[in-house]
Formats: sequence, structure tokens, C-alpha cells
Amino acid sequence: MRITTEKNDIDSVLFSEEQIRTRLEQIAEVLTEEYRDKNPIVVCILKGASFFYVDLCRKLRFPIFMDFISVSSYGASAQSSGVVRIVKDMDKNITGRHVLIVEDIIDSGLTLKYLKELFASRKPASIKTVCFLDKSDCHQCEVVADYCGFSIPNRFVVGYGLDYSDYYRNLPYIGVLKPEVYE
Ligand code: IMP
Ligand code: MG
Repeated sequence: MRITTEKNDIDSVLFSEEQIRTRLEQIAEVLTEEYRDKNPIVVCILKGASFFYVDLCRKLRFPIFMDFISVSSYGASAQSSGVVRIVKDMDKNITGRHVLIVEDIIDSGLTLKYLKELFASRKPASIKTVCFLDKSDCHQCEVVADYCGFSIPNRFVVGYGLDYSDYYRNLPYIGVLKPEVYE
């Protein structure tokens, strides 16, 4: 692993701050229609979804309960293992409540599938998912996000909360990481 500077390690910008802001406004409008009378629990999947979650929540024009769950897939590789460890569970009991899961990215889909099953076992009134990015060519299981920011090709991306080995989360845009950083 060779983390140097943003200028060295980022191949190209996939989505700028401006593009992200515009897309978030569109998603927030749709969610406001769907949830205005439902008083949902909006759950952030830490850490990757953190930027998306906060920016999205501030645009929602209805009452929400904010909650956070911290999960980690094993290892520091650029490949998802699908094995999810709960580092910190939610505070709120979701039984009988409408739940909106906010996730950063679907790659193989294994993480989201696992989380949806976990949430379903707690018997909420409904569960929907909003995912910022979707590598739709990479799914290894049947999983779809109810709402999606952008569909992207099979490239490893960082920034706007997304990391490689916990680095690059603070970049304000989505950038493609040069393969030599993780190969
Ligand atoms: P999945 O289980 O293969 O769908 O992987 C989902 C998780 O892997 C996400 O929540 C991310 O933490 C991580 N991940 C997958 N692709 C990327 C990427 O391109 N950049 C950063 N993290 C990624
Ligand atoms: Mg991650």
C-alpha cells in the first residue's frame, strides 16, 4: 500500500461536488414525497455513508430519527469479503417503524444483503435502501437499492466518505483510485 498525495493517487474525478449536490437534491425530493407522513428512522451505515447521509438528511423536509450503525468488512483490501462485523449497533428499536437504510456503495451486494436481512429480522414496518453509488455490473447476489445516486463502472472509487484502507474519505468529490495504490 502506497498512500501519497491526492494529486498522485487519484486517476480522475468521476463526480464533482456540484454533480453530487444536484443529484442529492433530486433524491431528497423523491424521499420527501415517500416519507413525509412516516416519521422514519434513517440509518447511516458508518463509516462510508457518513458524508452522503449528512448531506442528504439536511435536505429532507420531514421529521426523521437519525441513527447510526457501524459495520466493517474484514480486511483492508479493495475487494469486499461479504463478511460483515457489527462494530456499533443502532440505539433505537426499529420494530414497527419505517426504516430507511443509507449506504455508500453496492459492489458485490453482499454487505447490503446482509444488512437488509439483519434489519428485517427486527420486524420494522418497512425497509428501504438508498445507496449513493451502485456498481451494477458487479453484483454477486440479488440485491437492489430502492433509490440510487449514480450507477458506476467497475472501478475502485474513493472520496465523499468512501475509503481505501480508511484513507481518502475527506475528498469532497468521487475519484477513481489509481490501481497501483492498492495492487
Ligand atoms: P459489497 O459487499 O461487495 O457490495 O461491498 C460493499 C462495501 O465495500 C461498501 O460498503 C464499501 O465499504 C466497500 N466498497 C466496495 N466498492 C468500493 C469502492 O469502489 N470504493 C470504496 N469502498 C468500496
Ligand atoms: Mg468501506
